[in-house]
Amino acid sequence: MYLRTLHLQQFRNYANQFVEFNAAKTILLGDNAQGKSNLLEAVELLATLRSHRATRDRELVQEGQETAYVTANLERSLATADLALVLRASGRRTVALNGETLRRQADFLGVMNAVQFSSSDLGLVRGSPGQRRDWVDALLTQLEPVYAAILQQYNQILRQRNALLRQKQEKPPMACLPLIPTN
Ligand SMILES: Nc1ncnc2c1ncn2[C@@H]1O[C@H](COP(=O)(O)OP(=O)(O)OP(=O)(O)O)[C@@H](O)[C@H]1O
Ligand SMILES: [Mg+2]
Repeated sequence: MYLRTLHLQQFRNYANQFVEFNAAKTILLGDNAQGKSNLLEAVELLATLRSHRATRDRELVQEGQETAYVTANLERSLATADLALVLRASGRRTVALNGETLRRQADFLGVMNAVQFSSSDLGLVRGSPGQRRDWVDALLTQLEPVYAAILQQYNQILRQRNALLRQKQEKPPMACLPLIPTN
């Protein structure tokens, strides 16, 4: 898989930026706050539909605008793929693959694969087991998109289980079962 083009409109500090990746490797150089991390964040969003530094889509949309558009063209082993992500300052995001809007966002995952490594990833070695689990979960979701739905179900059941155990602990002690961390 190869990322051929990336088009950012009203995304972060980019009003309208089209980028074509022609070389085998690309190095982004720029001044502080010029938008290097923003560009990588757009790639991360296309691959995972998540950003490691934004919790709400409002942050991703250019200040003063209502909608951001992130589109890309991928070269894959069998065919090319056009990815489109529309982010709204207020409202739900929409995703499209090859010009067709997808009803389930999970169908967008797995089309583009990306691995990110930054200094904050040292937390993988030094941080909590929860961080390592999150990292593996994100990787698995890209390889096997169905994993996203399974993970959501699993987390919901885990929360219910822990809530039940907490309820029981508030009553006179019975069997003492350990709580499993939910992160
Ligand atoms: N929603 C937004 N609307 C407009 N501008 C934004 C938005 N979010 C971030 N910015 C701007 O993006 C710029 C930061 O971009 P970015 O973090 O990509 O820089 P960088 O090139 O990675 O810099 P550094 O070298 O310091 O890491 C800042 O000027 C910030 O004001
Ligand atoms: Mg940066």
